[in-house]
Amino acid sequence: MKILVIGSGGREHALVWKIRQSPLVTRLFASPGNAGIAELAECLDITPDNIEGLAQFAEKEKIDLTVVGPEVPLCKGIVDLFTERRLRIFGPSREAAQLEGSKVFCKNLLRRYGIPTPSFRVFNQSRQAVTYVRSATYPIVIKADGLAAGKGVVICHTEDEAVQAIEHMMDRKEFGPAGEQILVEEHINGIEASVMSLTDGRSIATIELTQDHKRVYDGDRGPNTGGMGAYSPAPIISDRDYQRVIKEVLVPTVHAMNHERRRFKGVLYAGIMFTKSGPKVLEFNARFGDPECQPLMMRLKSDLVPLMLATIDERLDKLGEPTIEWDPRAAVCVVIASGGYPGRFEVGYPIEGVDEAAKMKDVVLFHAGTQRRDGKLVTSAGRVLGVGALGTTLQEAQARAYAAVKTINFTGMHFRTDIAAKAFK
Ligand code: GLY
Repeated sequence: MKILVIGSGGREHALVWKIRQSPLVTRLFASPGNAGIAELAECLDITPDNIEGLAQFAEKEKIDLTVVGPEVPLCKGIVDLFTERRLRIFGPSREAAQLEGSKVFCKNLLRRYGIPTPSFRVFNQSRQAVTYVRSATYPIVIKADGLAAGKGVVICHTEDEAVQAIEHMMDRKEFGPAGEQILVEEHINGIEASVMSLTDGRSIATIELTQDHKRVYDGDRGPNTGGMGAYSPAPIISDRDYQRVIKEVLVPTVHAMNHERRRFKGVLYAGIMFTKSGPKVLEFNARFGDPECQPLMMRLKSDLVPLMLATIDERLDKLGEPTIEWDPRAAVCVVIASGGYPGRFEVGYPIEGVDEAAKMKDVVLFHAGTQRRDGKLVTSAGRVLGVGALGTTLQEAQARAYAAVKTINFTGMHFRTDIAAKAFK
């Protein structure tokens, strides 16, 4: 089979790394890819938002399966376009991807179908939103409706912070049309985890639990990032609570999407807060998490390609039990970022130590923001590398990942030193 993977981050490197191992693959392409992906796949120069360009390439090259990593092409309708042209593609349709593409759509759906989520109000005028937050109880959460590259959620501890967030989103249009509507949401406490599953709209195949680390600094301090590291499994969530998410969130959401005539096929990712009063949905994503995908791909024993094909063809229930097999070992992925990230940062710094790290036992380096310039590996984005490691225990996986991180060096690099530590408490 000829397979095309769309995207250029650590998640896409992990997908390419896993797909490359499938005996079904004859040629593997990635668009646009990165320096790590280029060692495993033929990279193209078509950006993920150029869905027409990607479709033309897939038609010309007779691609048998296209795998979409990021949310932007999904929300632009890449799956609909490919399907119209009889090209097989893994991911939800544009209408189904609204679960991630519009937080207002998502929250209204959850409310309509009685799926547990924090209480919220929707505003499309800043004046009304400001009046509301002036009498709110703090902290509260302000969310831009549309896609904002992970920056559209602000936890506000004071009235001033809330007013400022509203002004940024609605008046100064920091996120363009994504901030035309906002949500003001109740702030809830608990343990947050990423509950992903594969669904074809008829059945659900569960994916092992992972936990992301969204804040930039140790101890969950500092601003939000795309994710500074992840691990799997996540023993801090009990099996009872996990089963509740399946029953109270995933199953009713799949039914709700069918009922709305927006059948969801692909990775249904629920960001869940496990609270004292049960699991609540913070958000849905319509794709694998990044960096959560990296430890998951390291632990995935099944061939990913048949799983994706069965999802597209709505025959996940025909794959037998267990639908997905996992390595019982634990995996940890530590993200190394550019100095200044998630704020302003410079790129183009040479990266050293990658070959040494990659040779270490049970270590895999997932490139995110890397490029080759004159043969040399250099930084090209905020998140640069994900250092993944397997271990018999989470502690062992963590120790291996950090031993590999130590060999890597570039100007200004930073990383969290406590990835997976929560699991030991
Ligand atoms: N790591 C969070 C996300 O992928 O949205």
